[in-house]
Parts: sequence; structure tokens; C-alpha cells
Amino acid sequence: MARLLLGKPIAETVIDTVRAGAVLLQETLGLEVGLAVIIVGDDPASHTYVKAKSEMAMRCGFRSTQYNLPAETTREELLDLVVRLNGDESVHGLLVQLPLPKHLEPEEIIQTIVPEKDVDGLHVVNAGKVATGDFTTGLVSCTPAGAMMLVRHARGDDLSGLNAVVIGRSNLFGKPMAQLLLHANATVTIAHSRSNNMPTLCRSADILVAAVGRPELVRGDWVKPGATVIDVGINRVPAPDIGEGKTRLVGDVAFNEADKVAGVITPVPGGVGPMTIATLMANTLKCAEQSLARKTILQPVQPAQVVTSDG
Ligand code: GUN
Repeated sequence: MARLLLGKPIAETVIDTVRAGAVLLQETLGLEVGLAVIIVGDDPASHTYVKAKSEMAMRCGFRSTQYNLPAETTREELLDLVVRLNGDESVHGLLVQLPLPKHLEPEEIIQTIVPEKDVDGLHVVNAGKVATGDFTTGLVSCTPAGAMMLVRHARGDDLSGLNAVVIGRSNLFGKPMAQLLLHANATVTIAHSRSNNMPTLCRSADILVAAVGRPELVRGDWVKPGATVIDVGINRVPAPDIGEGKTRLVGDVAFNEADKVAGVITPVPGGVGPMTIATLMANTLKCAEQSLARKTILQPVQPAQVVTSDG
């Protein structure tokens, strides 16, 4: 059996550090870290995620504001709110929960968020900084940042000589995850729905990261013996074995099969999930700290005293 890699204890250490950082900002500079979350429509799963984000923000000592907009919100109304929050100094982090109702173009909305407040790391400026290795000012998308922490726990900081396969090529996860693995010196392959021979590709992976949203797609015989398996999928499937109409959550990996082959594996739920919210909190604190740093740099410098020879 593989070693189980649980997200919760690691996420808790991140949350403790973030809370301590937020308290320090409040006590030393009177700055309250602010997170604003916008949700449009009634999708129950999105509301559950957003509620968890808002509750964790409050646990971290942030001022958390949630904007619940009706499903029929227009493009102009949503853009107006984003622009207003962009200009609100008490808001350091801003996110728009996805997916949006069909009449709203997510890319346009997300690219309207100023990059300095883009706690989701989805703005092209942040995607570009991550791709060029600027992790100082760049904001990394939360789920890949959290998944990468789990990879580091399993394999250390330097992945030189290791093959990593990421299944999925989304902007939200697959692409930034591949960049993070590459930055840690792994040899990275991105596999996706148009790739040939997925099982063979996956069997080459010392680190296998699955993020496709297909329940239990990755079978046990796709896993290299001893591999680190990070399962990012969260899929609700029927579970008639526990009662009529019941459902359960499963990942993108057939856990019971992969568990027999892998060296380390994350469960669903309880693996990557808790890491996503923890890294969102870390990104929000980072936004607040950088807003202060920018203010300090931009403070007008007092003109130097001119000392003349006679006095
Ligand atoms: N929907 C599912 N995951 C995410 C996420 O990480 N950020 C946002 N904004 N929406 C999501």
C-alpha cells in the first residue's frame, strides 16, 4: 500500500503562518487584510466552495466580503463591480468564482481584475510571471500551488531527473502545474484528451498529477511502481451501494487500484482540496504585503537638504 499524503495537516500549517502574518500586519501597521469574493448565480457546488473560502478568510483574521450576484447579472454590472473593487484600497485580494453563467465571458472578467489583486493567479500578467519564474511578485493559481506543496512533501524541492506527467491542460490548473514542476527541474509532459496512448505516457511518470474531471480515469496499471500520485479531481458519482440516490466523491484516479502500485498517493477528498483554500489565503496575505511595499516605494521622497558652502 502507498503512503497516504493528506492535505489537511499541511494546509493547517500554511493557515497558521498566514494568520500570524495577518495579525502582525494588523498589530504593527493597523492594516486589515481584505479579500473580496464575487459569485454569480446559484450553482450549489460554487456556493459551497465560496462559503468555505469566506469562512477560512475570517479564520485568518481577514476582512472577507462576499458579493452574491443573481444569475441574470449583466456583463456591464459585473465589470463595474470588479472595477470598483480594483480601486478599493481595503480590498487586497479579489476573485470571481468560476464557472460563470453562460452569457458572461470568464476571460474578459478575469483579465479586468488588476494583476496585483488576482489571488487566483489567472491574469495573463501572473501567468506570464509564473512562466518566467518570477515567484516574488507573481501570483500562482491556488490549486497548482497547493498541489506543488504536496509534491515537495513527497519528493523534496529538487525534482532533477524525475519525469512528471500532468493530465489536463487548463489555464486554472494544468498549465501552471506544469510550470511549477518545470521550475523544480522535473522533466514535464502535459497529457490531454488529444494525447495518444495515455496509459503508456502515465507509466513513465515518477510524479503523476491528474486533473481532468473524469471519475477514476487513471487505472492502477497506468501508475509506475513507487510513483507519487497527486489526484486533483473532485467528481460526484452515484453510490447505490450506500443507499438509493446516494452519491460519493471520487478523484480522477481509481484510488484502490493505484494505492497498490504508487509510493505516495493523495486521497479524494482530503488530499489537494484543503491545500487550495490554504494557498488562496497565502496569496491574499501576499497581495496585502505587496500593496504595502508598493506604497512605501511610491512614497514621495523628501528632497535632500541642499548644503551650501556657507552654511
Ligand atoms: N472554480 C473552481 N476552482 C476555482 C478556483 O480556483 N478559482 C475560481 N475563481 N473559481 C474556481
